[in-house]
Amino acid sequence: MPAISASAPGKLILCGEHAVVYNQPAIAIPVLSLSTTTKIFAHPTAPKGEVIINAASQRIKENIHVLPEDHPIRRIVELVQANFGLSEMPACEIQITSTLPIASGLGSSASLSISVIRALSEFIGHPLPVERVNALAFEAEEIHHGNPSGIDNTVIAYEKPVYFERGKPLQFISIGTPMHIIIASTGISASTALAVAGVHDRWQKDPARYEALFTQIGSLSRQIRQYLTQGLTKPVGELLTRNHSLLQEMGVSCPELDQLVNVSLAAGALGAKLSGGGMGGNMLALVTEETSPTIEKALTSAGAKFCLKVTLPASMEG
Ligand code: MEV
Repeated sequence: MPAISASAPGKLILCGEHAVVYNQPAIAIPVLSLSTTTKIFAHPTAPKGEVIINAASQRIKENIHVLPEDHPIRRIVELVQANFGLSEMPACEIQITSTLPIASGLGSSASLSISVIRALSEFIGHPLPVERVNALAFEAEEIHHGNPSGIDNTVIAYEKPVYFERGKPLQFISIGTPMHIIIASTGISASTALAVAGVHDRWQKDPARYEALFTQIGSLSRQIRQYLTQGLTKPVGELLTRNHSLLQEMGVSCPELDQLVNVSLAAGALGAKLSGGGMGGNMLALVTEETSPTIEKALTSAGAKFCLKVTLPASMEG
């Protein structure tokens, strides 16, 4: 029997990270050139319930029952099993491969969850609609990092640029003109859970200051959305850089991220900021086709561990 295969992309938060956890809007785009792929091989002669997890990047090749009960992959499989009311999973091997760097702010955990949910539901014979895939992936994200806003699983499940506000209906964004972005990695792995918990602690100690920061970031996201739709690249860039300053004030940047942001701006980027949880991971620079090679070179010379250019195509989603 041929394997069943399903993939899910990565994601990039354009603006509004952290503030989105506190109900402010944020914008995220899918990164289609990076992905997680899950293949499922049926093992018809093995006893029911025997599920082998084979995830090379995490150095796992084990029977699922050997994994700790709170292991994210085990929990995702159990979420899908519970969704279909199955007492046992049909025997199979779940093989997971990914081109997404782990703990770098590019959505590796949500991408993994979504590719496994898509592949398993198809294997069971009932491919789930995107809304249900998204809801299950959100439950899985809660296991990974406590208090997720839901933006990562949403942009990855729908594979379109999203304007996301917690608890409100999802909105897609029109993009007036193609936007060219370089993603550059500090090479420092950073836990989103820890970054989110750090902001939570500081917010509790000084709610007035943090709520003012969240509100200012929310207002930037609203303006950035308008400029994206109007295809006005320059003001988008300026507001992205302002977003970085507010994230610095929030205490989620680090010297390596600040260095890459400054270097890209000095090399001609229209705007630059950290992206995702921060404390390491990635930054993004808004560039043009003309400035892109110079800025990428400058980022690499300044120590970026990898650079990836993504283009957000013009679209009429709004
Ligand atoms: C992580 O990609 C984005 C954060 O805002 C956390 C979240 O929204 O769950 C830092």
